Amino acid sequence: MKNTILSARGLCKSFAHNGGQAHILTGMDVDIYEGDFTVIMGASGSGKSTTLYALSGMDRATAGQVLYRNEDIVKMNEKKLAGLRSKDFGFIFQQMHLVSNLSLLENITVPGYLNKEKSAKEIDDRAEMLLKKMGIDHIKTHLPSQCSGGEMQRCAIARAVIHEPKLLFADEPTGALNKKNTTEVLDLLTDLNRNGQSILMVTHDARAACRASRILYIEDGKIISDLELSPYTKEEEKSRETQVNAWLTSLSW
Ligand SMILES: Nc1ncnc2c1ncn2[C@@H]1O[C@H](COP(=O)(O)OP(=O)(O)OP(=O)(O)O)[C@@H](O)[C@H]1O
Ligand SMILES: [Mg+2]
Repeated sequence: MKNTILSARGLCKSFAHNGGQAHILTGMDVDIYEGDFTVIMGASGSGKSTTLYALSGMDRATAGQVLYRNEDIVKMNEKKLAGLRSKDFGFIFQQMHLVSNLSLLENITVPGYLNKEKSAKEIDDRAEMLLKKMGIDHIKTHLPSQCSGGEMQRCAIARAVIHEPKLLFADEPTGALNKKNTTEVLDLLTDLNRNGQSILMVTHDARAACRASRILYIEDGKIISDLELSPYTKEEEKSRETQVNAWLTSLSW
């Protein structure tokens, strides 16, 4: 029996649009489980990013509830919400948003120092471990501008997990990467998940979605299908891709 880490009920999100309101999420119910690698798929504009931002408190839902540790983050004050985002959650985006005048090492450590959950020594040790794991140890003094896209994204992953977040959110983390770098980033995320990291990732890439233990499909701001998968193994990648592609085809993907 899995534990729920995040639970949304009646989640709504509307945006001001052309003098009126565009209703993007219209009453979504979803439970995200601890230890899962959950992926959100759906057509462009279906509300995937909007869902991720509403669930993570990056953006506030218009109505409904998002329960995290028995607290509703929709109603949480800004200060508490900011604390939650920096301490309990981690974030990876398509554009890596690294700080351009900090080295890779500093990009990883500085958010860790600022969040004050761990001592400077713990952050330094963990940063060294993550730099090695991400395969960017040899270029840790480089600025982001001196790195490839794949290296920058690996640094962004290390930064996102420096404080050991309870839940890692990722919005199209491989969207700007070539095939080789995509595989490397997916391998790293798979490895983090195998070691217990709960992940919620948005992607439009079926190959990336194959890493999931569960895939949610969004249409018109609601989850219309939910696919459970066995844990990912490289040996079963082909049959897994076939399974995921058949499911996506049945949803007119
Ligand atoms: N800040 C905003 N103001 C107005 N409309 C918005 C805003 N953010 C998103 N939208 C609209 O909400 C809808 C869903 O957007 P969202 O970014 O969630 O889609 P998505 O599924 O992530 O798409 P993609 O695959 O292209 O990234 C879109 O029609 C978009 O134009
Ligand atoms: Mg999006």
